[in-house]
Amino acid sequence: MANNNRGSFSSKFGAIAAIAGSAVGLGNIWKFPYVAGENGGAAFLLIYIGITLLISIPVLLAEFSIGRHGQGNAFRSFVNMTGKKGWGAIGILELLGAIFVLASYCVIAGWSLEYIMRSVMGGFHGMTQTQMDVQFDMFVASGWRPIVWMVVFLIINSGVLGMGVTKGIERCSKFMIPALFCILVMLAGVNLWQPGFQEGAAFILKPNWSAVSGHTVLAALGQSFFSLSIGMAAMITYGSYIQRQESLNGVGVIVSLATVLMAILAGLAIFPSVFSYGIEPTKGADLVFKTLPPLFAELPGGYFISILFFILLFFAALTTSLSIMESLVAFFSEELHIKRVWALAIGFAIILISSTLCAMSQMPDSHILVGGETLFDWTDKFCSAYILPLGGLACVILVGWFVPHHVVEHELTSSGKTPLWIYKFIVFMMKYICPVVIIILLVNCILDYFGVDMIAALMSLIH
Ligand code: TRP
Repeated sequence: MANNNRGSFSSKFGAIAAIAGSAVGLGNIWKFPYVAGENGGAAFLLIYIGITLLISIPVLLAEFSIGRHGQGNAFRSFVNMTGKKGWGAIGILELLGAIFVLASYCVIAGWSLEYIMRSVMGGFHGMTQTQMDVQFDMFVASGWRPIVWMVVFLIINSGVLGMGVTKGIERCSKFMIPALFCILVMLAGVNLWQPGFQEGAAFILKPNWSAVSGHTVLAALGQSFFSLSIGMAAMITYGSYIQRQESLNGVGVIVSLATVLMAILAGLAIFPSVFSYGIEPTKGADLVFKTLPPLFAELPGGYFISILFFILLFFAALTTSLSIMESLVAFFSEELHIKRVWALAIGFAIILISSTLCAMSQMPDSHILVGGETLFDWTDKFCSAYILPLGGLACVILVGWFVPHHVVEHELTSSGKTPLWIYKFIVFMMKYICPVVIIILLVNCILDYFGVDMIAALMSLIH
């Protein structure tokens, strides 16, 4: 059953760096600070941390346990864990989710490479906000240029993966995650001297309980799951590389807290500049590719700040995409019994096609649409709304209800080293609370698709 030739993370720090690398991605940098700011700042943060500790970490631990016990790729781990092929379908679903996420992720990572180059050439200085908007829109709509950068990114990604789990992923993450942290601290430090620092810091750090509603809790839940890369094969695959002697709980908690810390720092690095220039805070691609470059260029040392910022974005995207691509590589090499390089070639081809389609769907008059949205937007939404909760739900139900207790206990107590009450608490959450909460999230997403606001509907039922 176990495959002894599989790679593994050689140290605890290596495992944490790689897993945090998967978790800390674009979601933390361009989405979390904004969502936090809009939903009550520190009030959201507290709810977010509570949800992460109580709900997301048990789901993450279920995925780790399936991976580490199953000792295989996302599909094989499910089969090994249960002895039944049918459960492998969940692994396949998660792998499909991984392909979807990676399709748009690689395109955005390519944009960050273009913007590193533009920063180096000093291209943002003196540009107005409108000029910046036009330039970005033209670049995205040009089609071929984003595709070239996406291919460059894929080659870098594959180059790292080609070196293997320990020498490639682990070594690269051990360098990039601390570097990411240092860049964030530096950027936040520069912002300390901005006139809008207080306002920017207050946007995400001042509690505003009046902004908190049922929507806040759902937003926190969705963001927390997405941020921890749950439900899309990556954490099962990486879980299978965590060595036996490491505590899964320890790794889970450290990674989750590191992810929150990075997201807060990202907020401190971004919003003070935004407020200093009296600009409305936004999120997503518009925030990082349109709003920020001209602001950064105005700061003292702006030339270096822009370069650092886009390197930050590139590192965050690379360590994340490594985990997704690795999930595919592990799957193809183990299931087709082929060498890693060939598995990598198959993964490369699949993502090349899907990312090219995503990039092309953003060209004017493109017909690559799904349900009226560009393929680029649709893949992202479909994964977050359906695949992620479904995958997470299946994992907690499997580990909470179907896997023999001694197996789960062995995984979650590190063979008896962790106090039993912690294990019992985690299993209780997996069995009863997480499934209910995830089903609520899923129902909300489905209702949302039909234009029904679940919280408002519930409220009107109560009244
Ligand atoms: N966690 C990543 C981020 O915050 C994105 C992500 C979502 C992801 N699901 C994933 C990464 C699955 C790897 C695998 O940006």
